[in-house]
Amino acid sequence: MTLEATEQLATIETYATQQLAADKSGHGLDHINRVVTNAKMLLAEEPSADYVLTLAAAYLHDVIDDKLVDDVPAAEQHVVDLLKSVDMSQEKIETVMLIIKNMSFSKTLTEDQQKLPLEGQIVQDSDRLDAIGAIGITRAIYYGGHHSEKIYDPQIAPHKHMTKAEYRNLDNETIINHFYEKLLKLAEQMNTPVAQRIAKKRQQTMLDFLDAFKGEWNGMR
Ligand code: ADP
Ligand code: NI
Repeated sequence: MTLEATEQLATIETYATQQLAADKSGHGLDHINRVVTNAKMLLAEEPSADYVLTLAAAYLHDVIDDKLVDDVPAAEQHVVDLLKSVDMSQEKIETVMLIIKNMSFSKTLTEDQQKLPLEGQIVQDSDRLDAIGAIGITRAIYYGGHHSEKIYDPQIAPHKHMTKAEYRNLDNETIINHFYEKLLKLAEQMNTPVAQRIAKKRQQTMLDFLDAFKGEWNGMR
């Protein structure tokens, strides 16, 4: 990496740190740092991807989330201004914005899905790897507790097919249902071969957990 690239990423990291430091909903800095770590691992296998662009999108992928900011267009403009201030080209800025606006799971529930460039596929995989496996289980429980969800209710069937609006407005959500509504679907949505391989193992971790959970719920010895 050139010195210039190092400095660009340091400025971007500082911005993301400031924006997400106070978050208690599971999008904190620890999540961003794991996504960046995942992205670096995937970048090592995908040498044709633009390194700085990919890591910029990894750092910034949650700072325009409507769950975290009230004014999404203003948050987007701040990100554009930030990238301009580190002299990123107009074309690359547009690509970063396209990626961070279109990579979320809820976007995959809508009609207007964008095919992401390789850099976006890497960041999407990196984010999704952090939503599954042992970390994914922990984040789901953390999020569910924060939002006063029930742990589990066998009377409430999971909604396996939902529109984006339905997904965002679930009342009666339970932590266990979230696995069936989102987390177990992510492994087969991975873009890159390495992420597909890692996701297989993490999928099994979740399936084993759900199996044990339901056994214990039913008083199995
Ligand atoms: P991200 O795009 O970073 O994965 P999300 O906003 O979709 O972030 O969710 C943050 C974390 O909380 C993720 O690990 C996600 O699986 C979990 N989560 C989201 N919605 C729920 C829910 N209704 N119940 C339990 N966990 C949830
Ligand atoms: Ni994320």
